Amino acid sequence: MLPQRTSPDNTIFRWLLLLSLSGISFSIQFREAPQFYNSPECPSPATANWLCNPNITHIAMTLDKVYLRGTMAAILSIVLHSSCPENIAFHFIASSSDSASLRQSISSSFPYLRFSVYDFDDSLVESKISTSIRAALDRPLNYARTYLAQILPECVTRVVYLDSDLVVVDDITLLSSINLGEESVLGAPEYCNANFTAYFTMNFWANPTLSLTFAGRKACYFNTGVMVIDLERWRRGGYTERIEEWMELQKRMRIYELGSLPPFLLVFAGKIVRVEHRWNQHGLGGDNLRGLCRDLHPGKVSLLHWSGKGKPWARLDAGRPCPLDALWAPYDLYQTPFSLEA
Ligand SMILES: *[C@@H]1O[C@H](CO)[C@@H](O)[C@H](O)[C@H]1NC(C)=O
Ligand SMILES: *[C@@H]1O[C@H](CO)[C@@H](O)[C@H](O)[C@H]1NC(C)=O
Repeated sequence: MLPQRTSPDNTIFRWLLLLSLSGISFSIQFREAPQFYNSPECPSPATANWLCNPNITHIAMTLDKVYLRGTMAAILSIVLHSSCPENIAFHFIASSSDSASLRQSISSSFPYLRFSVYDFDDSLVESKISTSIRAALDRPLNYARTYLAQILPECVTRVVYLDSDLVVVDDITLLSSINLGEESVLGAPEYCNANFTAYFTMNFWANPTLSLTFAGRKACYFNTGVMVIDLERWRRGGYTERIEEWMELQKRMRIYELGSLPPFLLVFAGKIVRVEHRWNQHGLGGDNLRGLCRDLHPGKVSLLHWSGKGKPWARLDAGRPCPLDALWAPYDLYQTPFSLEA
């Protein structure tokens, strides 16, 4: 979809000029999304104290400047495909340094969205993380998912955590309402064909005590970019502390390479509820260095995830998209400053 070239509204144009002359620099980067309405059969959204209303579906995502365009597309895809969009509440975790401007961006593009922005204190994890081979994975905000149970209000008892490089093409409540059984804390698609051994170092497997971690568990890889979390069970079981213990150990002896994922595997692999693979068609980012494009995995599609090095917006901007990037483009709210034709 090409940005429409329209002639600038004269009033807005003069207003922009005035502001830029007064030394305030800014640019309108994202379009406003349309408003979406509940279908008649939706449970009442009850506007008073919506945060604690059990009819609300909660979604948590991180928010930062680099991935803002991806986050915007993800939000639009979620409300667009939901039959009860007014019953969705978003919880955005942002670095304290730019949470105010990011909050402003979200409310400009989604004036009708129920959302909260939470300041994430980078120093909370900075002391706990070790430098990893892929430095990008060690951005403190990547660890926000470990702290959701503390960051979100107590009355929020279940949340869907989503990465910012994905779009949802199905009703998100089908995912959020999965049965977590009697005791599971977490639900996610599992990949038992992935080589689980490879996520940990020889240090780990050679240590008799450590390698026993997975004894008696049918441990499979899962991607932490799409997870359904029971926050009550998480809080009760002290899972943040359990993950932190592994992070502390990693600092003392290298037991894994990648940043925030392996501690989740250590604590949860083999204990999660299996979600259908349609809810994480992952890997679409491919390998940007080699310009590799990935195809969909066989089966149905409810969520497309551009995990991996390449991102669809970057490839589209560069004029070298992968075929599946065309499925992301319709949700892109970004507009170049040139579309104002100032
Ligand atoms: C949830 O929705 C149902 C069905 O619309 C409604 O009867 C109930 O009052 C709602 N609950 C709250 C707490 O608003
Ligand atoms: C799995 O990964 C480990 C460590 O990287 C490797 O030694 C092993 O050969 C792999 N196994 C298979 C079946 O590919």
